[in-house]
Amino acid sequence: MDLHFTKDEPAPDERDALDAVLGTPESGWRGGIRDAATDTRQVDGGRVLRERRHLLLPALHALQGRRGWISPGGLNYVCARLGVPPAEAHGVASFYAMFATTERPATVVHVCDDVACSPRGAEELCRELERRCGPPGSAVGGHGTWQRSPCLGLCERGPAAFVQQAGRGREDASLAPASADALEAVLRGRDVPPRPGEGSVPQKGDPELRLLARVDVADPGSLDDYRAHGGYRALRRALHVGAAEVLRELHDSRLAGRGGAAFPAGVKWKAVAEAPARPHYLICNADESEPGTFKDRVLMEQDPFAVVEAMTIAGFAIGAERGFLYVRGEYPEATRRLAHAIAEARQRGFLGPSILERGFSFEIEIRRGAGAYICGEETALMESIEGRRGEPRNKPPFPVHVGLFGKPTAINNVETLVNVLEVIAHGGEAYAGRGTPASTGTKLFCLSGCVEIPGVYEVHFGATLGELIALGGGVRGGRPLQAVLLGGAAGAFVGPADLDMPLTLEGARERGATLGSGVVLVFDDTVDLKPLLARIAAFFRDESCGQCVPCRVGTVRQEEALARLLAPGADVLKEQALLADLEQVMKDASICGLGQTASGAIQSAIRRLGVFGGRA
Ligand SMILES: Cc1cc2nc3c(=O)[nH]c(=O)nc-3n(C[C@H](O)[C@H](O)[C@H](O)COP(=O)(O)O)c2cc1C
Ligand code: SF4
Ligand code: FES
Repeated sequence: MDLHFTKDEPAPDERDALDAVLGTPESGWRGGIRDAATDTRQVDGGRVLRERRHLLLPALHALQGRRGWISPGGLNYVCARLGVPPAEAHGVASFYAMFATTERPATVVHVCDDVACSPRGAEELCRELERRCGPPGSAVGGHGTWQRSPCLGLCERGPAAFVQQAGRGREDASLAPASADALEAVLRGRDVPPRPGEGSVPQKGDPELRLLARVDVADPGSLDDYRAHGGYRALRRALHVGAAEVLRELHDSRLAGRGGAAFPAGVKWKAVAEAPARPHYLICNADESEPGTFKDRVLMEQDPFAVVEAMTIAGFAIGAERGFLYVRGEYPEATRRLAHAIAEARQRGFLGPSILERGFSFEIEIRRGAGAYICGEETALMESIEGRRGEPRNKPPFPVHVGLFGKPTAINNVETLVNVLEVIAHGGEAYAGRGTPASTGTKLFCLSGCVEIPGVYEVHFGATLGELIALGGGVRGGRPLQAVLLGGAAGAFVGPADLDMPLTLEGARERGATLGSGVVLVFDDTVDLKPLLARIAAFFRDESCGQCVPCRVGTVRQEEALARLLAPGADVLKEQALLADLEQVMKDASICGLGQTASGAIQSAIRRLGVFGGRA
């Protein structure tokens, strides 16, 4: 790919798809029909074009969704429309797993073979699909193909699949639990059967629930039903008491971020509210790609108005008029429901100019990710929205000072934001009364793997690991517990001796673990953990953005060492020593959290569980 345009032209349907996103071209310079009278006298560029660069990701989605790949002609047209050099646009398109820059079939079935689906038959499913349809990448039925995928955020229903479907009027969909029969039928041209939305919250209807109170109870498509179940009370209160009071309540609540880093939400919001540069931005991080995590998906699919209301309160408190909701690309249903909720809220005066006639204006734009775990990292996510490759930035400066488009930005996880509704509706002090002094409120846990009743569970911080597993009906079939992966692939394994561990930020820390994004992935004694460690290593190698050497090279070496350990006759002590060295380097020298945590789970399995026999 060059800095210059090739001679390839867009097909008419590619032009249509792009114009639907970008509007009709303003001039011949921007891909329209040349008008000698005007086009030779004026040309737009510079700031005007830079301000449109954030449309690159939606534009690439439009092309991918229409043809099933991003053709050179289509890419040329995007570049002409947005004034982006072709080499740069190609660099962005090729960064994301959901985009193809070479021709491929219109239907692509992604079958999850990750840590939570493995003990639920994913490997058997992939083998059966391979037997019927050929190895991954084979052309099936004229217009379909399949491939293996990392976690799709449907772990409670595993084995899971996600179907990309290109063509006018066709939409992506997911399928879980997926069977070989169903996947083969889809590959041969059948429609994807509807996936039941409800059923992911086994505690549904429990009066103790706070964050999940409306899930499977209120109609997620109805604003009236949302309001009948307490919706929009918090926003009314926020607008009534004012932004300073909202910030004070949040500070008093001691709410910690639920995206993994547990940073105090009140501190973040105050820093943005006080930042002198303007405008301010809000981002809701709904990229949820940590293997084993699905709580944000359930909130977005089943209580989308809560996400919209919470973002509006956040915008009000930090002085932002524009918020971005960055949703994982593999979450088509959540995206549809959020888009509907935003449109409804706007129509009824809960979004847009002068909300509830109180003078505060706020808009929310959805941005769809395109299959890159690293885009959950806050600065990579900002790069992605800005139309660049999702490569993390060095910090400092921190996003509260220099964030999206270089402006002060508050970025919060979906669950963090939904907690704000509780804080504002009942007051910060009352909120902090639940849980423990250092871990306030309730927490959502994604319980999956070898348990009787997988799903999203809400418990007060402080419930023990054993109590949570008991809530989920215990280990499947009453078998002995072998291990639990806490916090996902970026987390750590704990053993049966840790069942008394309190599920709090401090409780996990004391045991050298982390709650991370709330993953509690249970393995019974029948599961061979060694291939799972190799899967985790492959995940990090695949998802490393490649920007810094310790992570780019370290994740490859880590995967190679694990492959040798899995082979017969391995020198266990030598390989374990090498893995420990790699961990140290990646932890100390990687730019971002991906490299810093890429060895955590593997090292905990070696040191705590002695998976390879010899201790490191
Ligand atoms: C590799 C990586 C992936 C991440 N993925 C997510 C994610 O999917 N969702 C999320 O909310 N935070 C994710 N984070 C954490 C974000 O960088 C950030 O801390 C978070 O969005 C802040 O929100 P919170 O304070 O409400 O937790 C990730 C971090 C790293 C290093
Ligand atoms: S640590 Fe890995 S993912 Fe993070 S910036 Fe470096 S190469 Fe990219
Ligand atoms: S959907 Fe398969 S591991 Fe999460």
